[in-house]
Amino acid sequence: MLAIIGGSGLSQLANLDVSHREVLRTPYGEPSGAVVFGQIRGRPAVFLARHGYGHVIAPHEVNYRANIWALAKNGAEAIVSVASVGCIRPDLKPGDVLIPHQIIDYTWGRKSTYHEGYDSAVVHVDFTEPYDPGLRARLLGAADAAGVAVGDGAVYAVTQGPRLETSAEIDRLERDGADVVGMTGMPEAALAKELGVPYATINIVANYAAGRADSRNGIRFETIEAVLAESTGRARAIIENLALHDDDPACS
Ligand code: HPA
Repeated sequence: MLAIIGGSGLSQLANLDVSHREVLRTPYGEPSGAVVFGQIRGRPAVFLARHGYGHVIAPHEVNYRANIWALAKNGAEAIVSVASVGCIRPDLKPGDVLIPHQIIDYTWGRKSTYHEGYDSAVVHVDFTEPYDPGLRARLLGAADAAGVAVGDGAVYAVTQGPRLETSAEIDRLERDGADVVGMTGMPEAALAKELGVPYATINIVANYAAGRADSRNGIRFETIEAVLAESTGRARAIIENLALHDDDPACS
């Protein structure tokens, strides 16, 4: 079953035929909200709004462990997350959709492993490739089939938030090799890796990063919502096509 985690601009999935909603409990507490089960184009799928319904949970306060656990332990065979970002790389612009291939983690203080405490053995997961290459390839194929232009590959810098960055911080992220910046990619990706569930992300560029282009004198929040509303439709089309080919052995 395909699982989708929606971010800002995607707190519900219009193309999901809902069968039921469940409030799930996990050993790590409660997920961001009820998990929504249903079908996309006749294929079973499950959806969770990362920031809760009503967008009330800030990026640093999301219970990432509960979210990933709830999906993984309730039949998710692949997790696609949607996360909005600001763009740093000069050829990117608001409205672009990307399938990132790498992460740089600048977050701190988030519960980022299932293996903690003295009664649990230390576990180091390999994180060379933070995203599942097979699922990334399927997302790129689904975008192609949906006629949605996507960027193949981006280095996603994940900052702590909830404030946005200073322009000097963006300059530093660029020197570090980051293409885009957002607040929710970690520890989500690492937790999915710990549980062995293939995970990949669709980044939606909502704005130029602080100090860049239109955001030279500050980030204008009014424009972000309109950009997200439009590009989220394209993310939905990708997901729909992914679901459609979910059982195609050539894709898995
Ligand atoms: N910075 C951090 N997170 C974000 C941004 C940004 O510019 N845009 C959307 N999420």
